[in-house]
Amino acid sequence: MHQELQTAVDHVIRSRHSVRAFTHQPVETQIIKDILTISSRAPSGNNIQPWKVYVVTGKKREELIQQVCQAQTELFNNPEKTYQYQETFKYYPEQWASPFIERRRENGWGLYGLLDIKKGETEKMQAQHLRNYQLFDAPVGLFFTLHKSLATGSKMDLSMMIQNVMIAAKARGLDTCPQAAWNPFSSVVSEVLNIPNDEELICTVALGYADDTQVINNFYTPRIPLEEFTVFCE
Ligand SMILES: Cc1cc2nc3c(=O)[nH]c(=O)nc-3n(C[C@H](O)[C@H](O)[C@H](O)COP(=O)(O)O)c2cc1C
Repeated sequence: MHQELQTAVDHVIRSRHSVRAFTHQPVETQIIKDILTISSRAPSGNNIQPWKVYVVTGKKREELIQQVCQAQTELFNNPEKTYQYQETFKYYPEQWASPFIERRRENGWGLYGLLDIKKGETEKMQAQHLRNYQLFDAPVGLFFTLHKSLATGSKMDLSMMIQNVMIAAKARGLDTCPQAAWNPFSSVVSEVLNIPNDEELICTVALGYADDTQVINNFYTPRIPLEEFTVFCE
């Protein structure tokens, strides 16, 4: 029993990966509810359970995609308008250091390589980037927010909950893509979804059934070996 459980859990963790092309097959509301309910078993400091999630489907999804794609395209054509679209918190550093910069580049070029996008092909890159704001065609967008009164620690709690969501989804034959790309457009998201002023967007997860015919879903990322990130202190 123990062995079976371990094999199953390891399998689900290993097989989860970021999917960037989904079919139009809808996800039953009860399945979404089950995933979120089990995911809320995540730990949180003092059990404050800071997470809040907006489940976006149907007409609202279409409206949101339309509004944010429009904003992103406007920004792409007028980069001086960046100040209008500020992310709620700094997800990435301003100055990248080694070895993170190399890993980041490897990841980016790995993805573009698969799509046959070469250096300098900015229109193609923009088109691919825009796919983020179409949820990669996923029928469900999960928009996770936190109350603004909370501290940095709550982002840890929320992250654990989100990982549960991705694992619980995978165990049900669904796939996901976590997305920070929406964060700069949080003002647009908040307006369309009626998110109160005292909450801020932290992360988005595209949820749906993977379209296995799309080459982009063959993108599997490597991991550094245990020895490179582990120190055993005895
Ligand atoms: C918080 C977070 C935000 C991310 N944002 C995006 C995003 O906006 N767009 C995207 O295509 N992938 C995004 N990713 C996916 C990462 O690129 C991906 O997790 C990483 O390359 C490892 O690959 P894997 O998820 O397939 O294992 C994000 C991942 C995390 C954890």
